[in-house]
Amino acid sequence: MTRWNEYISENKDRFLEELKQLLSIPSVSNDEGRKAQMQACAGKLIELMMQAGFDAAIIEETSHHPVVFGKKIINPDLPTVLVYGHYDVQPPDPVDLWHHDPFDPQVVDGRIVARGASDDKGQMFMHIKALEVMARTGTLPCNMKMIIEGEEEIGSPSLPEYLNNRKELLKADIILASDTAMISMEHPSIETALRGMAYMEIALTGPNRDLHSGVYGGAVANPINMLCKMIASMHDENNHITIPGFYDKVVELSKQQRDEIAKLPFDETEYKEELGIKAVWGEKGYTTLERTGIRPTLDVNGIWGGYTGEGAKTVLPSKAFAKVSMRLVPDQQPEKIADLFKAYLQQQCPPGVTINVTYLHGGKPIITDTKTAGYQAAVKAIKAAFGKEPLQVYSGGSIPIVALFKEILGLDTVLMGFGLDNDNIHSPNEKFDLVNFYKGIETIPFFYKYFKENRL
Ligand code: BES
Ligand code: MN
Ligand code: MN
Repeated sequence: MTRWNEYISENKDRFLEELKQLLSIPSVSNDEGRKAQMQACAGKLIELMMQAGFDAAIIEETSHHPVVFGKKIINPDLPTVLVYGHYDVQPPDPVDLWHHDPFDPQVVDGRIVARGASDDKGQMFMHIKALEVMARTGTLPCNMKMIIEGEEEIGSPSLPEYLNNRKELLKADIILASDTAMISMEHPSIETALRGMAYMEIALTGPNRDLHSGVYGGAVANPINMLCKMIASMHDENNHITIPGFYDKVVELSKQQRDEIAKLPFDETEYKEELGIKAVWGEKGYTTLERTGIRPTLDVNGIWGGYTGEGAKTVLPSKAFAKVSMRLVPDQQPEKIADLFKAYLQQQCPPGVTINVTYLHGGKPIITDTKTAGYQAAVKAIKAAFGKEPLQVYSGGSIPIVALFKEILGLDTVLMGFGLDNDNIHSPNEKFDLVNFYKGIETIPFFYKYFKENRL
């Protein structure tokens, strides 16, 4: 048993109690009514970071939610690891489907269940505890800085400005983040790509007021019918996206890269069973792992309008709305895709309704460099802690700041995540397995050790 393991097992209950404190603060970033809770969560982090052994931890104001920054500098000549995480969480709804209050964290069957358990409070907190482990056992080999943002789940709107203003403060050699998943404890893996994002909202207006659907129905365009038709037309019979120009910049993978994906452990029957679906769906010519990893998508996230209350009410609604997200892959540009989406809908829109399309937020796709000292250190760290070489996986998710780190700070990011696909992130009953939590804390110190060795 290493000194690290000894320290972790002696303190594991306290680590969990501290994580619960963090999870009990409803830091929902898209909710303007939760500004105080965002501040409270940032404040709690400062307290936890100082207790863990950081030299300094401060709240940095931005034009929206605050960023938390901390550091422990042992020797300016040594390499510096900048850890990234986010303390904001998705809204908990639908709240009815939770087995308990989403902000009253509880351990059920060896898992901590709460909003943010895996995305990203539980994962980000592993790094604070790993710093404590290294600091208290006198084994921190590099300098550590940490940035924890509060806007990840809303597309990090004020982070470009923040990064531009804080280049000096954030000077480092590599960025290390745990905000992704691995295949399983048996098949540890590292994600080496993130998809980009263009998030859109559509509003259609028909008649100037809700109408009786008998008196006017059949003679006036129904905005909900029109919206559904336009949305449905955005996929063809092969489930390709029909927006002209949408695929123009998409980089096709080589045969060899696709063969590598095909070798990953993946059981489609289990996948369907676990999701309760009878068939998978997707773009013709691609496998499920390709569809989620290397291909762009277009999905309705929500659609509303008209009467949605109990029972029946006849109405021809005046308005219809939808929120649509598109996941992007290299080299698609979010602004460009947003423009194509708008142009397509404007062109499709029938004369009886008016359309308004808004680009809510976006982020660029990125492929991380596996040749860096950082990536190689992560491979060695996982090998040391899990006894197995990690597999390499293309992620379906998006973390907009990762492309910004490269663009603005010139830094590569290593996505060493310990979540699992079935953690229910963004869903009811989000959880993080405690074995993953503790294994993450055990793996991170190896990263620092190997990163320093690789760099010197
Ligand atoms: N941590 C996730 C992204 C993620 C999930 C990456 C699983 C890899 C595996 C992140 O918090 C997230 O949800 N991002 C949003 C970004 C969006 C709001 C711009 C997403 O992917 O929907
Ligand atoms: Mn996240
Ligand atoms: Mn998320």
